[in-house]
Amino acid sequence: MSNVSTSVVPIRWDDDKGEIAWLDNAQIPWKEVNVSSKSLDRLIKAIQSLEIRGAPILGEAGAYGTAMIANNSPDSRDAILKNVTEHGQRLAAARPTAVNLSWGVKKVQDVITEEIGRGASPKEIKNAAITAAKKIQEDNISASYKIGANGKHLIHDGDVLVTVCNAGTLACDGLGTSTAPMRAAHADGVKFRVLTTYTAPLYQGARLTAWELHKDGIDVRVITDNMAGHLMREEKATAVWAGADRILGNRSKESGSTYNKIGTFGLSLIARGLGAKMYVAAPTSTIDPVHKIADVKIEQRKPEEVETLLGGTTVVPKGVGVINPAFDRTPPDYVSAIVTELGVVTAPYDISIPKLLENPDSMVKLPK
Ligand code: MRU
Repeated sequence: MSNVSTSVVPIRWDDDKGEIAWLDNAQIPWKEVNVSSKSLDRLIKAIQSLEIRGAPILGEAGAYGTAMIANNSPDSRDAILKNVTEHGQRLAAARPTAVNLSWGVKKVQDVITEEIGRGASPKEIKNAAITAAKKIQEDNISASYKIGANGKHLIHDGDVLVTVCNAGTLACDGLGTSTAPMRAAHADGVKFRVLTTYTAPLYQGARLTAWELHKDGIDVRVITDNMAGHLMREEKATAVWAGADRILGNRSKESGSTYNKIGTFGLSLIARGLGAKMYVAAPTSTIDPVHKIADVKIEQRKPEEVETLLGGTTVVPKGVGVINPAFDRTPPDYVSAIVTELGVVTAPYDISIPKLLENPDSMVKLPK
């Protein structure tokens, strides 16, 4: 897949300044603004206000954030350990649903603990933390290309694909996750069309996915969320392609349950009703092999997001309540296949996902 790439750099470590730099997702498509900071509070604010967002990028932010906490600490092993433990917890909790955030924090915390265990100097510990965070980013980018290569065979000439929110470069780095098979198929000359849903209330599908795919010359059109059923039937949609914020991967029947942006479950029901496929694309770092449905918290966001159009015009009468869950859960029965960097898995997911995690290259391991 040599002729497919992206020039967007969603997040990076600035070696010269010792800080994290990111592309502010909240301002796209109006402005492309790069922000950088060495403040943990600023990073947490960026995560909560969706300047930095999307599960794999949250993994990178968790990793770089933990490396930054270490780097900002005094040159003492005790101080580094205390800071990454205390502040790392705060960072990991900045948003609750995407498992990658706490995964990224823990990965770098573990490297720091190992370095301390082997008697490394504070300077060595800080360098090892930054190197580990950079490796997580490299692995995500590489995973996205492999997801593209593994998933492109599921896209054919004439297909009409529906996607939700943004699981592109901005959310996942590299080629993205749900967008990676599209980009790879497009590079191979496959002719298909994409419908991206608005994804109210923050419009990631319209603002971000349309921005990304249009730049790449992919035939993409934006639809409002409530048009999905009608247009999927009228346009003979062949598949929904969604990313994931967390996929349960334990050995129970819950395995394959997919947490993704609100609206995904509805699309899976429409796909089922119309005989279309429901594909989920995600790196193995998005698989949660430990928790059950009862443990997973679906983030409830501020009412203002629903009450107003992007903080502007008020659309809800004063005094009327709103509900604003950011994610939903699609049951495994509705997921036709999950495309990862290690291959494509299908039901029964209580067998296929644990087997996938046995691969030595899997980014997460199933507990014994
Ligand atoms: O609230 P967001 O914008 O962080 O939502 C995350 C998402 O972009 C989606 O749920 C996406 O489909 C999965 S993350 C690659």
